[in-house]
Amino acid sequence: MANTTEFIIDGLKATVEGKEILKGLSLTMKGGEIHAIMGPNGTGKSTLAATVMGHPKYEVSGGTMTLNGADVLDMAVDERARAGIFLAMQYPSEITGVTNADFLRSAINARREEGSEISLIRFIRQMEAKMKELEMNPEFMHRYLNEGFSGGEKKRNEILQMLLLEPSVVILDEIDSGLDIDALRIVAAGVNAMRSEDRSFLIITHYQRLLNYVKPDFVHVMMQGRIVKSGGPELAERLEAEGYDWIKEELGIDDETVGGKEEEFKVPMHTTAPKYN
Ligand SMILES: Nc1ncnc2c1ncn2[C@@H]1O[C@H](COP(=O)(O)OP(=O)(O)OP(=O)(O)O)[C@@H](O)[C@H]1O
Ligand SMILES: [Mg+2]
Repeated sequence: MANTTEFIIDGLKATVEGKEILKGLSLTMKGGEIHAIMGPNGTGKSTLAATVMGHPKYEVSGGTMTLNGADVLDMAVDERARAGIFLAMQYPSEITGVTNADFLRSAINARREEGSEISLIRFIRQMEAKMKELEMNPEFMHRYLNEGFSGGEKKRNEILQMLLLEPSVVILDEIDSGLDIDALRIVAAGVNAMRSEDRSFLIITHYQRLLNYVKPDFVHVMMQGRIVKSGGPELAERLEAEGYDWIKEELGIDDETVGGKEEEFKVPMHTTAPKYN
């Protein structure tokens, strides 16, 4: 496996049910970097996450996406997971009949060569250790995946998956929503423990709070299905203090959501994030 990660999205367009949601989104993430994406509701953040993961509902209608040179758009969902792309969903699904442990063990083994599957004992030991780090009750190991989990328990469980799967591109979609103050700290510690030179993070969040614990290298603002502004951590602080109106004014955007009419587009079609390195 390569010891660096370079994930490049260029001019990505995606359509759902005939409506274009992503309208030419470009983003480059390198190993070791943490990127945060902020933006008002309905501007395409979760659509970006789902499109990167290859959700069948989101049809790519333009642009490219590569991971270490390999064409990600050419890969099925399971191949993307095997390539090291991981998504913690904003609304994790409940799966009755599959225990958390079964699910995780299959997911780990899916990433391994046939014949080198993780042994049950080793897996249980790893899962127990990670659950302890996340201060999760061991009973969650044998519960059906997310079924009846509270909002915060689901989010913690997503982080458990991340810790065990050791992905190279991690997308966290509102991982902080629904977490109590202690859980936020625990989840942030889990993310920080995973920071490494061969892994990059894309953290979608509405609040500066999480970014106090997990310091981003870059902060991007999404509006109308594209990244319209990028900066460092100070950008998130300004958004927290002032909201989004100043950006809309600066860029002449009336309606920041993707539902707006085409003629309301005032931002150039291919806004590429500035390069800081
Ligand atoms: N499967 C779908 N069917 C119909 N419309 C969709 C679908 N997925 C996304 N959309 C629409 O695309 C737009 C962007 O949605 P998305 O979930 O990406 O927003 P978001 O930026 O994640 O918002 P939030 O901050 O509220 O989570 C919304 O108007 C949404 O209704
Ligand atoms: Mg969303």
